[in-house]
Amino acid sequence: MDKNGLLKLLHSMTLEEKINQMLQVSGFYFEYEEEGILTGPMNQAGITKRELDTAGSVIGIAGAEKLKKIQRAYMEKHPQGIPLLFMADVIYGFKTIFPIPLAQGCSFAPGLAREGAETAAAEAAAAGLHLTFSPMADLVRDPRWGRVMESTGEDAYLNSCFSAEMVKGYQGEEGLDKKGKIAACVKHFAGYGAPLGGRDYNTVELSKRTLMDQYMPAYASAINAGAATVMAAFNTLDGVPASANKWLMRDILRGELGFEGVLISDWNSILELIPHGLAETKGEAAKLAMEAGMDIDMMTTCYSRHLQKLVDRGEILEELVDEGVLRILELKNKLGLFEHPFKDADEAAEKVLVLSKAHREKARKMAEETLVLLKNENDTGTHAPILPISPSRKVAVMGPYADNPHTLGAWALFGEARDTVTLKAGIQNLLRNETMDSFPVFAAGCPILDDLDKVEMPEAEKEEILQQQKQRAALLAEAVDLARKSDVVVLALGEHYAQSGEAASRTVLNLSQGQQTLLDRIYEVNQEIILVLYNGRPLILPEIMKKCRAVLEVWMPGTEGGNAIANVLYGKVNPSGRLSMSFPYREGQIPVCYRQYSTGRPYQGEAYKYLSQYLDCPNEAFLPFGFGLSYTTFSYGPIRLNRRSMGKDGVIRAQISVKNTGTCEGKEVVQMYIQDKKGTVARPLRELKGFQKIDMKPGEEQEISFEITEPLLRFYGAREKWTSEPGMFRVYIGPDSTCTDFEEFELLSN
Ligand code: GLC
Repeated sequence: MDKNGLLKLLHSMTLEEKINQMLQVSGFYFEYEEEGILTGPMNQAGITKRELDTAGSVIGIAGAEKLKKIQRAYMEKHPQGIPLLFMADVIYGFKTIFPIPLAQGCSFAPGLAREGAETAAAEAAAAGLHLTFSPMADLVRDPRWGRVMESTGEDAYLNSCFSAEMVKGYQGEEGLDKKGKIAACVKHFAGYGAPLGGRDYNTVELSKRTLMDQYMPAYASAINAGAATVMAAFNTLDGVPASANKWLMRDILRGELGFEGVLISDWNSILELIPHGLAETKGEAAKLAMEAGMDIDMMTTCYSRHLQKLVDRGEILEELVDEGVLRILELKNKLGLFEHPFKDADEAAEKVLVLSKAHREKARKMAEETLVLLKNENDTGTHAPILPISPSRKVAVMGPYADNPHTLGAWALFGEARDTVTLKAGIQNLLRNETMDSFPVFAAGCPILDDLDKVEMPEAEKEEILQQQKQRAALLAEAVDLARKSDVVVLALGEHYAQSGEAASRTVLNLSQGQQTLLDRIYEVNQEIILVLYNGRPLILPEIMKKCRAVLEVWMPGTEGGNAIANVLYGKVNPSGRLSMSFPYREGQIPVCYRQYSTGRPYQGEAYKYLSQYLDCPNEAFLPFGFGLSYTTFSYGPIRLNRRSMGKDGVIRAQISVKNTGTCEGKEVVQMYIQDKKGTVARPLRELKGFQKIDMKPGEEQEISFEITEPLLRFYGAREKWTSEPGMFRVYIGPDSTCTDFEEFELLSN
């Protein structure tokens, strides 16, 4: 439909019909309606039949047959026959679940994230969905916050690369109406990743400069990549909740970032303006949200019940409603829903695509690239690195993740554990056709949790854990006995998937006591321990790592996690992940990230009291951003610059040779950091400004070059503009954020 057609449609609608286009309801109500139980949950939530018959969009249900049925019935009833928009959280996969985004960030391969998003879109579109609430582009530097698992990490540049690629993966670049494409939704705008105390939904206190310089780039990058929608955050910024924040939404989002798409609230966030203390009634909340430009009201009736009265009383201009409704109609039009209201919903295609061999292959390949080798010492039995595991070694694989399918993370809403390859299955798949002196044995060793309080999970899962808790002593005894009889122990430990994600903030970032006891008791009888760590956030590892010869960080690796981990453990794949988020020594260090400032009293190793330092802990992270080991080794030559200065239009090429000095093929992530040595505001000691993941055979040497241009040197400067400032800069190139070799160049003022 062309623009005139949309305007004609808009003006043919009654005010009530327009307002209800801004209402988003749970698909739950439509499912109930199918069974004719209309009076059930709807009335509890106060949704009327009229609202349901004219709502603009639906959240949280999928399935080609189901959604076609709902769409058909809905359009027959709708006064103008306007199609529904079906939206859902397809955050890192639909049915084929990829690694959590924090793991994806560790791949340092945004192209893989694009492939993951393309795969998710293909499955979700066939299942009738039109939009996903992804990418989550929140910068995160506080592992107490459970939703760090949804972010690609602590760095603005890395996150910007990933958020743009994910948008392109979901939406394609030839139009939302194309087959297998769905609209993206960048969230949570803005600054949601910096809640005070790491406590979810809490207040965010960021200076405008830090917000714009550090937290804004990844949202902006996704919007520049064409993201069709943006979701408002729950938190306040400078005391104003995002859902009512006119400065944030109209001046920054619409003004500075030039976003013209649909702005949707988060779940219930408009109604939450009341507990925030900005509104006393739903009508006041609706008014504030409309003035801020919120186009869709997710799961409350603030708009549907109060906007009509606000317009009738002249408190809200109808033009404001028209603006928002037109954006919604334009989104439906871009998706081609007026011509094809079922879009790609197709039962047969859904069956073929979902969890297809090709999709599983993509998920496994991505998982392999997200695994981070954090430690790899020699096995005292073979006097060689304990990883990859030597086929000659008798192996026991133990721990609550030894054979556990719940490795999909907290936001795999449509993924199912029954489709997951566990570590045990992965190892058995790999070794099935191998001739081995002995095949690994497996044991749980302990329950995954000691205490089930506050950790939300299905009853059946809870029951499994309760049974294990009853057998705790026997499980431990069995594991210790097996460890005693084995050469090497692979210990699969970690957080429960529901210990991270939304509303899952923690102040002690440890493993459960039961898991710690399992490690301690096994260590007493066998020190050849390989830790495989499943978690949704950085944990406190110093003491744990002392008892392990090797540590492989696997995060929540998704549907194909078991195959990916087995391939790395047995050397079929050389691990190449690098940390996208720093691991602190202890919680007291938080927030910790590589991007530090000098301060006026920089700590530089000297024993002097009056410096910026702790009495009881190093300043740096225990495991730094960008860090990760390989089964091979790499050496770096000197950094070479093709010139020592450049003007605003110039380019400086920084080159370095990198060599695989080890005995097997491997991938290295060459990272470039730049320091602006002086500015009209304090500048950080370094910032990631480039990275390249390269694959090299043993002995191979490659010339790596980075182009440094003036835009790369810009920051949110003293005059609140994105500018660069002339002066001296340092460029570091190396394997992680602690690299020390540098060269200097000057940006000239012309
Ligand atoms: C949740 C989350 C948001 C999600 C939305 C819809 O509260 O904050 O990320 O997309 O509701 O499920």
